[in-house]
Amino acid sequence: MALAWMFLFTSPLLLAKSELIPEIEQLQAEIAHHDDLYFREAAPEITDFEYDLLKLELRRLEQESGVTFPPTGIGDDRSTPTNQIRHGLPMLSLDKAYSDAEVAEFYERVSQASLGDHIDFIIEPKLDGIAVSVVLERGEYKSAATRGNGAVGEDITAQVEVIRSLDYEWEFDPSFPRIERIELRGEIYLADAQFDSLNRDRRAANEPEFRHPRSVAAGSVKLTNLNEIAARGLSIVFHGWGDVMPVEAAPSSMAEFHRWLDARGLPSAQTVRFVTSDKAAELNRAVEQVRASLSGVPTDGVVIKIDLVDLQKTMGNGPIAPRWAVARKFAPPRARTVLRDIVWQVGRTGALTPVAEFDPVTLGGATIRRASLSSASEIIRRDLRLADPIWIEKAGEIIPQLAGIEYAQRSADSQVYALPQQCRSCGTRITQIEGTAELRLVCENYNCDEQVVQRLLHFVSKAALDIKGVGPTLAQRMVESGLVRCPSDLYSLSLDQLVTLPRVGQKTAHRLLIEIDESRNASRERRILALGLPGVGPRGARQLSAEIGSLDKLVDPVGRRLALSVLGESVSAQVLSHLRRPEVDQMLRRTLATMGDQR
Ligand code: IVH
Repeated sequence: MALAWMFLFTSPLLLAKSELIPEIEQLQAEIAHHDDLYFREAAPEITDFEYDLLKLELRRLEQESGVTFPPTGIGDDRSTPTNQIRHGLPMLSLDKAYSDAEVAEFYERVSQASLGDHIDFIIEPKLDGIAVSVVLERGEYKSAATRGNGAVGEDITAQVEVIRSLDYEWEFDPSFPRIERIELRGEIYLADAQFDSLNRDRRAANEPEFRHPRSVAAGSVKLTNLNEIAARGLSIVFHGWGDVMPVEAAPSSMAEFHRWLDARGLPSAQTVRFVTSDKAAELNRAVEQVRASLSGVPTDGVVIKIDLVDLQKTMGNGPIAPRWAVARKFAPPRARTVLRDIVWQVGRTGALTPVAEFDPVTLGGATIRRASLSSASEIIRRDLRLADPIWIEKAGEIIPQLAGIEYAQRSADSQVYALPQQCRSCGTRITQIEGTAELRLVCENYNCDEQVVQRLLHFVSKAALDIKGVGPTLAQRMVESGLVRCPSDLYSLSLDQLVTLPRVGQKTAHRLLIEIDESRNASRERRILALGLPGVGPRGARQLSAEIGSLDKLVDPVGRRLALSVLGESVSAQVLSHLRRPEVDQMLRRTLATMGDQR
């Protein structure tokens, strides 16, 4: 991370060729680390723009050093060595252009190859999801694979099948010769509306929000639970092809390919534009128009391709990317500000989440003061310090992110950020848990006010018992006044007690009591969700509800072990160890006694 910003804010040192090697190796390792976060953990720490800068810098250094480096497996998305599919033709990457001038250079190269003819281009959105190769044989869906290392990808046939049907009626195909077998190349992505709706559900269930639609797409195609993939609402579109049999049946232009898709009801990108251009400026104007028209889908630029396959062949492919296409990337809007504080929010399970607070900035029409940081590890890895000059970025509806730190401009007397030792809410000493990927901070005091408030808010949330009228302020007052220390205390509240709380009058108190009483009729699934068991969201609650028969089984050590096994080994172990805590057991018994088990 640090490196990316050094490129932007300091001029690179001029080094002798062999001296570049350690730097190249360090950069390769850094890129491999980000690949890992992006492809295997689906939790990137840097923006795509920064990632591209790292790769650009790597390429520049490699060229400068004159040394050819063996391929490093950069960009490999495979996480398991099994279930692999070899692509018929390699899945290439795209060269990037970051300015109109770079698009003009591309145009000049094409113009020379076309010997002065008018050139037809197609401009498409560059969808920000996960690349996929789908094989259809005689119109029948056969297999799907991720890009992998470009030559071999991971088998995701079953996962793609639930996204949408990809068959077509081959027998009635009028084209001649007919395509017997085709490798379609495309992108799986999550539309903005779907992303927002997933995050609304997660907010309602008090679960951490997804940070980027791409991470959801990347994470979803690796899920083994097909119902869960279906519930994510992913989309797929095709923008190209690989191996085609027979070869004579392959499309002769991009336009023909899109017509072929449309006629067979196969999905192609929503906005495509064909331009015939004899000036680079015209091409840039068309690119700008396409860019302005993009909406509703996550994109990280547009792709400009030559339309005619013959001219594509004249230009040929490089080892990594074709010479007949270029991705025009646009930097997302960002603003510079100063980090003022890192606030550690306590969740209902005691996990602490860092939130960066900074001087307000306006981005995309909204004023932003906070950005969530993923974990303590992110702060350590990026060496984030208080009073640092930072860049904040927001693309579409996505949660604002810390895009970069201006290390060169930081104050000379700044101090390495010290992780908190004590919980800001209850003063308990914080426990540091070293996970495989991340360092987690936890407040282990079950009676910590902020945890009790968060458990209460989860209990009353829409997805759980849907008790309207208990917002963060009232929840805090209920907890601090001692009226509610366990969510089930809600059921023994009286009107007289409620009106002692600030800003609660007779009418509000009365309405609240009705809401609380009605929640006794909530389904078993909702009541399970309301318990706030670690790792048990709406889906887990549904599975557990179907399995468990009666909520009382949760307090029976044998019965609960059996029932919880439907949640899978890791969640089940997490919940069992949670339930073994005496204070949790006590809370659970009290809650079950008051809520009963009517259904
Ligand atoms: S064409 C041989 N067109 O971008 C050219 N790629 O850097 C191959 N992508 O992961 C790509 N939208 O899946 C092309 N309209 C589009 C695209 C697109 C997104 C992805 C592609 C790959 C990456 C290439």
